[in-house]
Amino acid sequence: MRLCRLPLDNDVTLRKRQRVKRMSAAAAMVVSPAAEKLFQENSDRARYARCIKASKRVRWDIDADVFRGRTFDFRRKFLPDGLTRVNDLAFLTAAEKRSMSHVQGRSYACLFGLLERFIAAKTLELASKHGLGDQVALEGLVRFSDEELKHQELFRRIEHAISARMPGGYALIADATEVARVVLSKSTWAVLALTCHIELFTQVHYRESMERDEELSDLYRDVFRFHWLEECQHAVMDEIEWAREDRSLSASERDIAVDDFIALLRTLDELIRTQSSADSGYFMRLCERSFSPAEQQQIREVMLRAYRWQYIASGAQHPQFVKMLSGMTTRVQMQRVQAEVAALIGS
Ligand SMILES: [Fe+2]
Ligand SMILES: [Fe+2]
Repeated sequence: MRLCRLPLDNDVTLRKRQRVKRMSAAAAMVVSPAAEKLFQENSDRARYARCIKASKRVRWDIDADVFRGRTFDFRRKFLPDGLTRVNDLAFLTAAEKRSMSHVQGRSYACLFGLLERFIAAKTLELASKHGLGDQVALEGLVRFSDEELKHQELFRRIEHAISARMPGGYALIADATEVARVVLSKSTWAVLALTCHIELFTQVHYRESMERDEELSDLYRDVFRFHWLEECQHAVMDEIEWAREDRSLSASERDIAVDDFIALLRTLDELIRTQSSADSGYFMRLCERSFSPAEQQQIREVMLRAYRWQYIASGAQHPQFVKMLSGMTTRVQMQRVQAEVAALIGS
């Protein structure tokens, strides 16, 4: 009986929450005629206004909407096969492939929490530039920073929930604040290019998670969905701020900024190379058997390929990212970036 009562109680609470959420979303949608007119325009201000409207409509809560009293089910995969690339390792059993998705899912939460540290800090800096200027842009960027702080909390909560159920020996190699310091030491143009790249690959990851896969954890699938719901607005605001920054640069400043962006891609690659090496070792220790040297090598290569797909290729090759970057750079600069990406994901 107790098992039956719990979901019913949760259902009633959930329905109440959803009703309150619908009511507050409806209230947020009541706007003045002036605001309604602004939504129709094509200016940056209008794009910000639309982002704010969407941000209010989709706003979610970590406990009430994402976790809803659930825990991660280790009988299911945490990341979809399209991201983990586990099917490239034919010698792994189904249970081992699942275990690899748990390791990668744990690092996904850790690395996203880490990347969002510099994004939130940069967005706050950009918001302050609008402090006494465009109040619509200011509100959009303040909401953006607030959401990224919430995402950091979400990813910390995921790591906490997963770590409690996994054996010791896992290590997150990089420090979020140190990485943020390195990233933020580069030009704003380069930081915004990297941020835009990240916001766009989040959308690719969400699409991968929607692929029909009965074995994927419902909770982790919801993490992708809820994250994506707010990242859509972030990608638009990144584009606006990146283009604004671009217009303020001279040709020589932009050339330096392109080099900065390439340096940031190398920093990101170094980060995921180190993490994938640690994760490969941890994964093999979790498996209750030994692997031949050739199999160990394959595991390390596939893990690195998966991380390079997740954190570099899925953003740098995103059509919207390519369109934005090519619109701001010369053909030679674009080739420099593309050659770097090819070297990273091809090596
Ligand atoms: Fe985020
Ligand atoms: Fe974001």
